[in-house]
Amino acid sequence: MPAGFHEMWRDLLPVGRSRATGGYRRYAWSEADAECRAWFRDQALARGLHCETDRNGNQWAWWGDATAPGAVATGSHLDSVPDGGAFDGPLGVVGALAAVDELRARGHTPRRPLAVVNFADEEGARFGVACTGSRLATGQLAPERARALRDAGGVTLAQAMERAGHDPDGLGPDPERLERLSAFVELHIEQGRALADTPHPVGVASAIWPHGRWRFDFHGEANHAGTTRLEDRRDPMLTYATTVLAARKKARLAGALATFGKVAVEPNGVNAVPSLVRGWLDSRAPDEETLDAVVARIGTAAAERGARDGVRVEITRESFTPLVEFAHRLRDEIAGLLGAPGQPAPQLPTGAGHDAGVLSAALPAAMLYVRNPTGVSHSPAESATEDDCAAGVTALADVLEELTCR
Ligand code: GLV
Ligand code: MN
Ligand code: MN
Ligand code: MN
Repeated sequence: MPAGFHEMWRDLLPVGRSRATGGYRRYAWSEADAECRAWFRDQALARGLHCETDRNGNQWAWWGDATAPGAVATGSHLDSVPDGGAFDGPLGVVGALAAVDELRARGHTPRRPLAVVNFADEEGARFGVACTGSRLATGQLAPERARALRDAGGVTLAQAMERAGHDPDGLGPDPERLERLSAFVELHIEQGRALADTPHPVGVASAIWPHGRWRFDFHGEANHAGTTRLEDRRDPMLTYATTVLAARKKARLAGALATFGKVAVEPNGVNAVPSLVRGWLDSRAPDEETLDAVVARIGTAAAERGARDGVRVEITRESFTPLVEFAHRLRDEIAGLLGAPGQPAPQLPTGAGHDAGVLSAALPAAMLYVRNPTGVSHSPAESATEDDCAAGVTALADVLEELTCR
C-alpha cells in the first residue's frame, strides 16, 4: 500500500464523524462536505494535480492535460448516508489518489490524461435524489428539478450550493467533458457478502439492479389520543404500518427488495393521532418488470388498507435508475487482468447504485469491489481489512496503468 493511503485515510477519518456512533453525516453541500472537498483539493494540489470543479459541483484532479481527448477517469464520492460507514465512497477517492501515487512509484507515464473525481451528492441523503452530480452531467436529471429539490429544513439544493460557494445556475449536461473521457473506473467497498467467503479480495461489477425511491403520503386526521374512540380514528400510522408489512411480503414473493428506511410524522406528538405519515420506499429488483410489479402491488395494498382506515394515500416517484449492465468488453478485460491465468476475477451484480452506473449511459464504465467481511454497509459497522484495501488500490493501479498505456 502506498504510504499516502494511510495519511489520507487518517486525515479524512474525523470529518463529519459522530462521536456517539462512529458513523458519518457528510451530507452534500454541508459543512462536513465542504471539509471533504477542501481535503480533496489539498490532496490534489499536494500531488501536483490540476484541480477544478465542474458546472455540477464534481471535483476533478488531473494528471495530464485536462482538455485532451481520450482521458481515463477514476474516483467515487465523499458524501455519506445518515450514520454511514467510512468506506462507502471514500475508499474509491482515497484509493484513486493512492493509485496515482502507486503509478508514479512504478515510474508509469500515462499516454492519456488521468483524472481522479469526487462526485457531488452520490447518496442523495439530504435532497432525496442520489448521484445528482453524475445525473446532471449525463442529462439524467433536469437542472431546474435539481435546483428545486429541498432538504428536511426546506433549504433548496440551489440555496445549499450557493451557500457553499457553487453557482447553481451553471447546473446541466456536460457532454463536452464526458466526450473527452474514454473510460471511468470506480473502486468501491462491496456492500454484500458475495466476496466474503471467497479467496478473492477484489471483484468486478457486472450489473446494477434497477432501483428507485417512492414517497408515500398517508393523509389521515389529527385527533386526541385519549378521547378519540378507535373506531372513530382516521389513523395514517396504521395504514403506514400495514403497508410496511405488505412491502416486505410482496418483495419476498417477487425476489425483490423493499425498504421503508425513512419516515416523517405530523404533527409528531406522543398524544395525538397523526394527521400525516410520510414514508419513503426504496425498492430494487433484478429487472424492471419485477420492480414495477412490486411497487404497483405495494401501492395497491396501501390504497386498499387506506380505504378501510379512511386514509388517503398519495404516491410520488422521486427517482428511478434503470438496469445497468456494465460494458462487457471493459469488465471482461479487467476481470482477466486482475485474475490468475485462466481464472479471471469474479464478476458480481449489486443492488446498490453508483456514479459508475449513471455514467455508463454515456461512456464505458467499470467498478472494482473490495471484499467486505460482514457485508454490512450504510452503517458505522461497514468494514474492510487493510490488506484487502491494499489489494483494491493495486488492482485499480493495474487497471489504470493498462488503460492509460495505449
Ligand atoms: C447508494 O448507495 C444506494 O444504492 O442507495
Ligand atoms: Mn452508498
Ligand atoms: Mn458509494
Ligand atoms: Mn451509492
